[in-house]
Order: sequence, then structure tokens, then C-alpha cells
Amino acid sequence: MGRYRLHVNGERREVDLPAETPLLWALREQLGLLGPKYGCGVGACGACTSLVDGQAARPCVTTVAEAQGRRVTTIEGLSEDGDHPVQQAWLELDVAQCGYCQPGQIMSTVALLAVDPDPDDAAIDAALRDNVCRCGTYTRVRAAVKRAAQ
Ligand code: FES
Repeated sequence: MGRYRLHVNGERREVDLPAETPLLWALREQLGLLGPKYGCGVGACGACTSLVDGQAARPCVTTVAEAQGRRVTTIEGLSEDGDHPVQQAWLELDVAQCGYCQPGQIMSTVALLAVDPDPDDAAIDAALRDNVCRCGTYTRVRAAVKRAAQ
């Protein structure tokens, strides 16, 4: 066990966990942040995507030790009431079907738009390539990325 100081959604938080514990467990089980979802647990599906130091990261394969001292943002940290421009675009275009993967899709989009404010289809597809949606909302996701970029 170890005590790890995390910086999550603008707040300093501490967790007592073994060093190799996935950050996703700390976020969901210790800090009550249920936005990042558990899908595959091996960094392959994108359901848990959150930001670490502003870049899209997979908390299921990031340990609490690796996250210490870094700036972690989950979808809960984007806005108080869902009014972040990317969240608004998702709502306007009714993107979600079952919704399970959508926090990850949104967080990957936030990371993309931070470095490419006007992405073309190829850039969108590349950035969200590893965010899997079993409902097949990809067309609406792409449209919402473009809406958020406007
Ligand atoms: Fe993290 Fe699938 S649960 S990438």
C-alpha cells in the first residue's frame, strides 16, 4: 500500500492503494467518479478515456503511481452542468445510443480539439480510432466533433 496524491478535476485528492492499482479503480471506487467506464481493462476499447496533463489517456492501464503529480481530468471535470461545447454538441446531435462509450468518445474529442481546432474526417477518425462503440454511433460522433469545432 502507498499513499498517492492525485490532482483530479482541479482538486487535490489522496488515495491509499498499491502502486500498481489502475487509476481507473481509484477514480471510480475511491473517488466516486463514475464517468470513466470500465470496458476492456487493457487499454483497447477507450471507454475509460480521460485526460492526463491534457492528453487522452487510458486510466485502466495507467497506475496510480504513474498518475501522481499529474493533472487528471475525467468527464465530470469538463463542466458543472454538461455545458462544455463538446458535451453540448453531443446533446444537440443526439449522439448517444446506449451511452456507455460516450464519455470516452467525448474526452478523446476534447483532447483532439485542443491540438486541432478544425479537424478533417481523417484527423477525427485517427483520434477516435480506438474508441469503440458497439452501437455504431460513429457517424454521429464524427458530426458532433465537427459541430463542437464550429
Ligand atoms: Fe480502458 Fe477499455 S477500459 S481502454
